[in-house]
Amino acid sequence: MIILGIETSCDETSIAIVSDGRIRANVVSSQVQIHSEYGGVVPELATREHLRNFLPLARSLLEKAGLITSEVDAVAATQGPGLPNALLAGFKAAQSLAFALGKPFLGINHHEAHLYSPWIKGEIADFSAFQPNVSLIVSGGHTLLVHVRGLLDHVVLGSTIDDAAGECFDKVAKLIGLPYPGGPEIDRLAAEGNPRAFDFPRPMLRDANDDFSFAGLKTSVRYFVEKNPEVIQDSRKIRDLCASVQAAIVEVLVQKTVRAAKRAKVRHITASGGVTCNRALRQELQLACQREGFTLLLAEPKYCTDNAAMIAVLAEQKMRHHSPATSLDAEVAPGLALV
Ligand code: KG4
Ligand code: ZN
Repeated sequence: MIILGIETSCDETSIAIVSDGRIRANVVSSQVQIHSEYGGVVPELATREHLRNFLPLARSLLEKAGLITSEVDAVAATQGPGLPNALLAGFKAAQSLAFALGKPFLGINHHEAHLYSPWIKGEIADFSAFQPNVSLIVSGGHTLLVHVRGLLDHVVLGSTIDDAAGECFDKVAKLIGLPYPGGPEIDRLAAEGNPRAFDFPRPMLRDANDDFSFAGLKTSVRYFVEKNPEVIQDSRKIRDLCASVQAAIVEVLVQKTVRAAKRAKVRHITASGGVTCNRALRQELQLACQREGFTLLLAEPKYCTDNAAMIAVLAEQKMRHHSPATSLDAEVAPGLALV
């Protein structure tokens, strides 16, 4: 089975071909450069770039995969959540292609696709391994803990009640004068800083539920910088500040994930989403899993951030398990939740 997947929910235009659990090609055009000038994603620009990038990207994808479109068995695209017009660009292109080819179309939940991205490793993915698991999805827009009871069977345990972890990284970075996106910048500076230099709150760490909250942490960094403006002028202290904020975010994410996994009585933990690129998060998850006896499956950095490979991978599993196709008249669902 050959599946063509499309992802345009935010600021990456991505198209992929997956066949029999293996990625044949995955092309991504990132718009980070364009949006960094504005300090965040500008929805109108994102849509324009998706439309501009789509055909050249599709040509290079087919060339890389050595395919012609008539060999495709099904077309899938992100239906939501995401920016409405950005989603429309990829979703309508996918529906048009499915219609022209006379092949089934699948609308995919972006977060459900993230759940399966840790299995994408360059070989044929074995989705029966690492099940059941507790999965942490951490991106710029969302922070979710999910109990995956088996393939295509999950229940959301908790999510952020305000800012997502990536949003916290990005807003703190902006506050201290670092460029957008701030997460990778904080990661880079934190590597040379002392994570115990400054004490920041660990929001909701002690709460018994699986929800998160990062808005208060961002506010406490703002107060700290207002009181201690010299910190962000000093190249050593700014590294300590980055390391201390990062340590607070990472500790909450790791401890709450491990606790949820214990409560769900699973042996495996998985993690995906842009923030999973963070080196301290990867390392601390690894250490906590070793200490507590869990096996850990992390998405590879290039599949942590938004990509169409995960859309096509999930669509293929849905096809194999006889999930119904999505109507060619279906609309995008910008507020689509994972339940
Ligand atoms: O999953 P993603 O590519 O897009 C969304 O769906 O949001 O995640 C983007 C987020 C941004 O907030 C970015 O700052 C964060 O992931 N991020 C990182 C790192 N790399 C990307 N955060 C911390 N450390 C990183 N190395
Ligand atoms: Zn995402």
